[in-house]
Amino acid sequence: MISFEEVRQRERGYHVAYYAKHGIGDEGTWLAGPSPYVIESFQYIQPSADKALDLGAGIGRHAFTIAERLGKGSTVVCVDLLDSALEKLIETAKEKNVGANIITVDSDVADYEPDTAFDYVLSVSVIEHLPNKQSLTACLKKLQQATNTKGVHCFMIAVDHKWTDRVTGETVEPLVEQNLTTAETKDLLNGLYKEWDIKDLSEKHWEQTESVNGRDVICASTCIQFTAIKSEEE
Ligand SMILES: C[S@@+](CC[C@H](N)C(=O)[O-])C[C@H]1O[C@@H](n2cnc3c(N)ncnc32)[C@H](O)[C@@H]1O
Repeated sequence: MISFEEVRQRERGYHVAYYAKHGIGDEGTWLAGPSPYVIESFQYIQPSADKALDLGAGIGRHAFTIAERLGKGSTVVCVDLLDSALEKLIETAKEKNVGANIITVDSDVADYEPDTAFDYVLSVSVIEHLPNKQSLTACLKKLQQATNTKGVHCFMIAVDHKWTDRVTGETVEPLVEQNLTTAETKDLLNGLYKEWDIKDLSEKHWEQTESVNGRDVICASTCIQFTAIKSEEE
């Protein structure tokens, strides 16, 4: 049985190496550009919106686009547990002239306590890194509280991880914090967001080959895509 610490260590190692090797805009990588799904969710942002939260912001692939979308005087709070990623994010924000819009918070999402209310909350491949369903639920409730009426939540969540050795075809135990199923994730979101206006709850297949302990492993998962707007009555 792989420990939580081992999983976290591998995650950190993977991201440190990835961000050292690749930058935003690098073709053929997941940093090539903002996710079209995220851009699509911008249609629901209120014209008066000026505060956003990017959970697990990494080196800012989405944070800069959000800052540009919200415009002058807006704030994007970028939370990540990798200080090296946040340092790179700050540098790039200055180059892109959105430095004044960015606030970085070096924290685990689980420990992050919002001190303001947001109009837009994004999580791309992040909240599933919480240790279990209880902490994920608590985090989502906290985020709901910290969202203004008509604020938008947009999530892309990797679930149903299935890892296979590319050479031998053997099943490999996924090194992930929690391996939620598609059905339980959808149930969780439908339950927690029943008072919200759910605009989308869909799924798509995702896979990439990674080097895991010296083996080439096909890491396949389902990406749950979720967009919802906080109702006035909430
Ligand atoms: C797959 S990357 C995605 C980065 C960014 N959201 C994007 O779409 O470009 C996941 C990011 O989440 C961060 N992360 C993972 N678990 C986290 C946690 N529990 N709290 C805060 N950040 C976390 C990682 O350091 C990494 O930068």
